Amino acid sequence: MEPPFSFPDLEKMNRREIKAEARALREAIHYHDHRYYVLDAPVIADEAYDRLFRRLTEIEERFPELVTIDTPTRRVGGEPLDELDRVEHARPMLSLDSTTEREKVLDFDDFIRRNLGVDRVAFICEPKFDGLSVELVYRDGRFESGSTRGNGLLGEEITENLRTIRSIPLRLRPEAPTYLSVRGEVFMPKDGFQAMNRERLERGEETFANPRNAAAGTLRRLDPTIVAGRPLSAFVFDVLSIEGFAFDTHAEVIDALRAWGFRVNERVAACPSIEEAIAYHVKMETERDTLPYEIDGVVVKVDNLRFRETLGEKERSPRWAIAFKFEPRHEVTRVADIVVQVGRTGVLTPVALLEPVSVGGVTISRATLHNFDELARKDVRRGDTVRVARAGDVIPHVVERLDDRDESLREPPLELPNACPVCASEVVREGAYVRCTGGLACRAQLLGSIIHYASKGGMDIEGLGSKTVRMFLEKGVIRESVADLYTIRKEGLLDLERFAEKSADNLVAAIEASKRRSLHRFIYALGIPLVGEHMARVLADRYGALPPLVDAECEELEAIHEVGPEVAESIRRFFGSESNRRIIEKLYASGVEPVAEARTGAFEGVRIVFTGGLGRYSRGEIKPLMEGLGAAVAPSVSEETDFVVTGEKPGSKLEQARKKGVTILSEEEFYRLLAEKAGIS
Ligand code: IVH
Repeated sequence: MEPPFSFPDLEKMNRREIKAEARALREAIHYHDHRYYVLDAPVIADEAYDRLFRRLTEIEERFPELVTIDTPTRRVGGEPLDELDRVEHARPMLSLDSTTEREKVLDFDDFIRRNLGVDRVAFICEPKFDGLSVELVYRDGRFESGSTRGNGLLGEEITENLRTIRSIPLRLRPEAPTYLSVRGEVFMPKDGFQAMNRERLERGEETFANPRNAAAGTLRRLDPTIVAGRPLSAFVFDVLSIEGFAFDTHAEVIDALRAWGFRVNERVAACPSIEEAIAYHVKMETERDTLPYEIDGVVVKVDNLRFRETLGEKERSPRWAIAFKFEPRHEVTRVADIVVQVGRTGVLTPVALLEPVSVGGVTISRATLHNFDELARKDVRRGDTVRVARAGDVIPHVVERLDDRDESLREPPLELPNACPVCASEVVREGAYVRCTGGLACRAQLLGSIIHYASKGGMDIEGLGSKTVRMFLEKGVIRESVADLYTIRKEGLLDLERFAEKSADNLVAAIEASKRRSLHRFIYALGIPLVGEHMARVLADRYGALPPLVDAECEELEAIHEVGPEVAESIRRFFGSESNRRIIEKLYASGVEPVAEARTGAFEGVRIVFTGGLGRYSRGEIKPLMEGLGAAVAPSVSEETDFVVTGEKPGSKLEQARKKGVTILSEEEFYRLLAEKAGIS
């Protein structure tokens, strides 16, 4: 269902109509959620989806008696709880035996074949998701309750939290059984995890060590609205209990789960023998880093369900499945030295320089110790033996010190620096962090700020990576601030060893192109402490241009949803600084002119007719502009038309619109809509 641009007035509808509309909206939203979150194949623009969602919310707010148990609006989080209740699982949720050794997997196959008296046994292999196991219960096709695995017999009820996860269907397809309990894994995708950690870091909050901890910490929260704001997802991989259906193989179970509307992993594969299962493990290990979620191995399961019954279970784990895990991603090595690194915001970070060691196929020679509190807690010193870990793309870190050497043989601990190791400026302590007060006079901060400015999420200057920036500082191409970038000329570059004719041309062109990046990128690129990519977007949306943001007071900033007092204070302090203002002025003087970004798709699927002349745009301009935003601009009014814009001297189309009851907008109303929806003013 393609939503109309404006919905009928609720005041003019009777209850039957409203109820029918609410039902149709729910159907449509369930359908689109399934396309988007389960099949990963959306067929509607975000904006059109939002329109459906807003309309349903509006109806439910005005007529609370129409709210149903499975309404998608409840995904945004219900009332907080005082504590989590314990619930018994439909069937015990077993654990798995696990190994990292090929031999053990061959033994597993041997054992099974001997027990069953067969020559060959077929398996189903699945990625082993690194998340949290949950039970989901559906009655009459509706999500009724859900719980954590707990001790396998009793779990904690987390229904409202699970409801916020969009890939968990609230309503199953009509063919689904009347009663069904399934098992799945809730996890946090890598990109969501990293974005969340970045934002937490910017807000000065503690970060999660890995996506698994983040998912676990989130799922057991008492306040579902917090859970709703976290990027969780889920795969379902088994039936715990079911009424009215029987299956012969696990492959059939998987197909049924998919058909009923669950998100089933697309890498689940049939392996006709243990050799294929081992090959599957090798393949998954090579693909591991390219997957958008963490896996820590594969699960090898006997496909035939009758075989499973024959094999039976041990106390806590089945005999018909095994977790074939990957080699762990941590390793033990020695700390050659500990150095202090200064970041772009001046924060001093202790970093361990390591004797190089391969961790999960990547050689690591340095690992962060995060901050001085953590350094003190772990008490890591030069010469110590430590365990280092790498989780996904996250920078390697020191997990723990393993030394049990005699204290007298150890080096003394690193002392808290009382000056910046790069520029010798004074340092100040801010909570767990130590910060250099040198600003851009500190070369480390200058270097960091320029790398950040040119980075992908910032002004995206291709060819200006950290090595080049470092060289520019060494050679004096850049001396004071990012504004120096715009004084770079091709001739100047040709004198430098890394540049030839073509590369110099390219870089100059890339710097030139960066002059017209969108406003939110520019705000992010400035490197305001606590302002990450998301916050930069929020600010760009609110202000539409830089000058009003530069002059904004704390109170005004705090009035923006999502901006708290610390962020507001940080923004004000940044723009309050004389030197920062001077840099911004220089940037503008060199021709940097960020543009407020039009939100493409803001008018997706909307049919518009123009009649009469517009003051701001010619006919030739307005059509491509609106089409660029996803609208269809039609020459005549029809039943399908969403609205007609009347400019100067409207023609007969206005009359047609009136007759057909199509919404009519004045030129002013249209501009307002354009500003509101697409940020164009
Ligand atoms: S099957 C009785 N399949 O691994 C067998 N488990 O150590 C039930 N896990 O707690 C588990 N991905 O949460 C199975 N594709 C997968 C899995 C999987 C992750 C987790 C599960 C369990 C743990 C076992």
